[in-house]
Amino acid sequence: MSGVRTQVAIIGAGPAGLLLGQLLHRAGVDAVILEQRTPEYVLSRIRAGVLEQGTVNLLEQAGVGKRLRAEALTHGGVEIAVNHRRRRIALQDLIGKTVTVYGQTEMTRDLMDARKECGATSVYEAESVQLHGIDGTSPSVTYTHDGEQRRLECDFIAGCDGCHGVSRRSIPQEKLTSYERVYPFGWLGVLADVPPAWDELIYVSSERGFALASMRSATRVRCYVQCPLDDHVEQWSDERFWDEFKLRVGPEVAVRMTIGPSIEKSIAPLRSFVAEPLRFGRLYLAGDAAHIVPPTGAKGLNLAASDVFYLYEGLLEFYVERSSRALDEYSTRALHRVWQAVRFSWWMTTLLHHFPNEDAFAARVRAAELDYLFGSPLAQRVLAENYVGLPL
Ligand code: FAD
Ligand code: DHB
Repeated sequence: MSGVRTQVAIIGAGPAGLLLGQLLHRAGVDAVILEQRTPEYVLSRIRAGVLEQGTVNLLEQAGVGKRLRAEALTHGGVEIAVNHRRRRIALQDLIGKTVTVYGQTEMTRDLMDARKECGATSVYEAESVQLHGIDGTSPSVTYTHDGEQRRLECDFIAGCDGCHGVSRRSIPQEKLTSYERVYPFGWLGVLADVPPAWDELIYVSSERGFALASMRSATRVRCYVQCPLDDHVEQWSDERFWDEFKLRVGPEVAVRMTIGPSIEKSIAPLRSFVAEPLRFGRLYLAGDAAHIVPPTGAKGLNLAASDVFYLYEGLLEFYVERSSRALDEYSTRALHRVWQAVRFSWWMTTLLHHFPNEDAFAARVRAAELDYLFGSPLAQRVLAENYVGLPL
């Protein structure tokens, strides 16, 4: 078995793993990334689209802000629509901050390009990744690549391998506490090369269910509708999708819409999940490997970035000052922000979706809450503060 040594072994080349790799590289800390898929596969996954300012700052710090600065859209507000009545939440006026519309795919591509350029090692198509000795002081990772078994020795392992990865599963079950809420619906998402008929994102609560009008650029839209969990993409022709979307978003927006063929269509289930603590021995979990939020608050990707920031600070303190204080605090610091995002994402999801088994009382309370949000600048400010992202 051929062996290599690095300081930090990063499992997973999603946004969390790639961002951590780039920050560490710029700080002179050596890291190797192991990813089970191909780069093309990783880039083909269409996911999040809204970045908080803290995430943008980290991308700048990682040296990958150039294309984002040139191409991303800055939004000073977001709309909530309830049964075709719309209310703008003026993020900039209410809280003095904006959000950045830039696809997760683009962010991932920028990080991949930067990594290639600096010559740091990433192993794609790493199969049968296994973690060893994580409760000791010299952990290692074994994997198969090109039919050859390899071993990576390291000081630390960063588990950035998403919710189905191997890292969290390598921690003895009795050492983790999990919290979960499964929602009784999914999101059907469509990407299409047509100009958006909206200036800012619209989160729609309608009697037919939730919808979201989003975008990637001035020529590309990303739209979602709430759908039953057992629906399949094949049941949703483009025509059916756009008809349903228009009914939910309402006639005022619908008449201005240009329709085009979908270039991607997928269904994602909605779930809240947290596994605590985020550390076991020399293994640190970050991003979806440790927690999942429903997409309604646009928090998943941003949480992955804030975990990475805290972990990066901890690793840096270890290598520069030989102190493990910040690493020891990683789980507590990250979880504080994680639970705030879990709460906000759960609240947005509950407020805006149609729950199949909702009773009359719950429906009236939900309507009252929406009414309150529409009428209260204070309630709007609370939404705005959370939507733009709580401070790191
Ligand atoms: P991931 O992006 O999942 O990356 C993990 C990487 O690890 C992957 O490349 C995977 O191939 C790799 N990996 C897995 N197992 C192994 C292994 N054993 N060995 C090596 N590598 C491994 N968030 C939003 O804010 N808005 C959205 O609209 C939105 N939509 C989403 C839709 C879907 C279908 C999903 C799954 C998530 C969505 N999210 C959304 C959440 C957001 O995309 C994630 O929070 C974000 O991708 C987290 O980044 P990550 O790097 O932690 O994990
Ligand atoms: C997008 C996805 C989200 O979950 C969200 O809250 C906002 C935007 C998007 O894909 O554009």
